[in-house]
Amino acid sequence: LRKFIVAIDGPAASGKSAVSETLAVRLGFLHVNSGAIYRCATLLAIRNDLLDLQFKKNLDRMREILKETKITMGPLGTSPIKNENVNRPSTAIFLNGENVTDQISKIEITKNVRFLAKIPEIRAASIEKQRELVQSKNLFETRADSKVDGVIVEGRDIGTAVFPNADIKFFIEAEAKARAKRRFDELVARGLNVDINGDPVDYEQILEDILQRDQEDLTRTHSPLRKAKDAIVIDTSNLSLDQVVGKVESSILKRL
Ligand code: C5P
Repeated sequence: LRKFIVAIDGPAASGKSAVSETLAVRLGFLHVNSGAIYRCATLLAIRNDLLDLQFKKNLDRMREILKETKITMGPLGTSPIKNENVNRPSTAIFLNGENVTDQISKIEITKNVRFLAKIPEIRAASIEKQRELVQSKNLFETRADSKVDGVIVEGRDIGTAVFPNADIKFFIEAEAKARAKRRFDELVARGLNVDINGDPVDYEQILEDILQRDQEDLTRTHSPLRKAKDAIVIDTSNLSLDQVVGKVESSILKRL
């Protein structure tokens, strides 16, 4: 079967993951969440006390650690943690076999990803991991009637920099307030609306974080967030998840 790459880009909390996770299960496509790789890198940096990458020594060590670490992604059913509060399929992220799905969603990680995502060497290492993952075994249940070996890759620069020749590209956007509301509701549903000290995180903090990440994603020198010229643009501000999934799915099916 030929590889069929779906690129889904968009700003923070635009619904890319929800759409990708739902479609991965529905179509039996592998789901590669590139944001999760930057988040895993951040978790590794914190664990190894290497968050300050201005020092070449730290950066070299960080690259080594990333190289040695195996990151895998599969349907939540393959993980020991089941989350009944999130009423849709979700992708589990494993770091050397450890399920870090919830840990990397926490605000401490989200706030610190920017320090790594702007460094070209870290982006290069992350892109290498993304390409490896695209070629790896699909842990999702592939459909017997599938005409392709499908992969959904989501992020900020997939259609522009990582897979500029993707078979189909989407750019999913929504107003910042709609994105903050959805992200806040999701964190509450998953019981993750607390910081490292156990203090509650409120909607205003989430909105502030999203606005700051938009700014950083758009102004970064290396691979900033841009719409690919050939991307199908979907504004999800006034659409339900089902409606967005429907639009993306029908565009994909037409291209198979
Ligand atoms: O998509 P998610 O919010 O999980 O991404 C976490 C962070 O990783 C983003 O704020 C962004 O700065 C960075 N990122 C990136 N390039 C990607 C995906 C994510 O720089 N392709």
